[in-house]
Amino acid sequence: MWLIAVSAPLLPAIVITVFSRYGVKATALWRRALAWALRLMRGRVCVRSTHAFVFSKCTHGKVDSVLETFDLYADTHPSLCIGPETGEALDEVVRRVRPSRVLELGTHCGYSSVRLLRLLPPGGRLITVELDPLTAELGEEIILVGGFKHSQFQVLTSSSAEAIPTLRSFLEPDQKTSEGFNLVLMDHDPQQYLPDLLALEREQLLCPSGCSVLLINRERGAEDLREILDHVRVRADGCSIKTELQFMVEIFYQKDSGDVECDSKI
Ligand SMILES: C[S@@+](CC[C@H](N)C(=O)[O-])C[C@H]1O[C@@H](n2cnc3c(N)ncnc32)[C@H](O)[C@@H]1O
Repeated sequence: MWLIAVSAPLLPAIVITVFSRYGVKATALWRRALAWALRLMRGRVCVRSTHAFVFSKCTHGKVDSVLETFDLYADTHPSLCIGPETGEALDEVVRRVRPSRVLELGTHCGYSSVRLLRLLPPGGRLITVELDPLTAELGEEIILVGGFKHSQFQVLTSSSAEAIPTLRSFLEPDQKTSEGFNLVLMDHDPQQYLPDLLALEREQLLCPSGCSVLLINRERGAEDLREILDHVRVRADGCSIKTELQFMVEIFYQKDSGDVECDSKI
């Protein structure tokens, strides 16, 4: 306590010294910290009211009603859910890829999880990762309200960076030795998109005979998204940009010619 009392008057001097010495870097760091804190606060407020609205107004067990109620909420409130426009583009990819194992980074209130789950084949499975414990709890409840069972999905409360090295153990026992995910949806933190893609590759969690990695782009032209796209564009080893929409980018990952089947399209 005494340390805080003594150092408080020195704070302005410390801030001025840091900013004059490390100018641009310190300002960028400060901006990122502020944006992160704002995102977290906005997310918390939004997830409670989104959950309350959807939980009380939708027909439980009816997946279409759950999605329509989310859309109704977003008509009159700010929302972090991907919404119907991006949702339809996502549906198209899921129908084309027909994945049996899907990874989602950034559960939020469960909107995109429900969208994904309703199109998976019987036996298909979704693992969704959410950093914030309260959000993870509320998102999981909405997925259950949509009529899905724990045998079909798992919500992991963790940062993506911490979750990725553990993911293999969450695949079904008979899938532990299999080829990983056929579809990955990243809608968490654009600064994590590239490190997480690299970590998924390192852990061999992307199916080598084909995996679509979808990146949601909320801040059009954001620097962080450019970083991952530049990375993919210069690669010549089976990782390429398949489609680039304004709000969503699809990266296609393929390490071998497709001789090894990753039981998508089951
Ligand atoms: C934009 S929302 C996701 C919306 C969701 N895809 C939907 O459409 O319903 C982003 C979520 O990612 C979570 N998040 C942010 N950074 C994360 C990280 N590093 N790892 C896991 N989750 C993260 C946030 O707490 C937030 O709930």
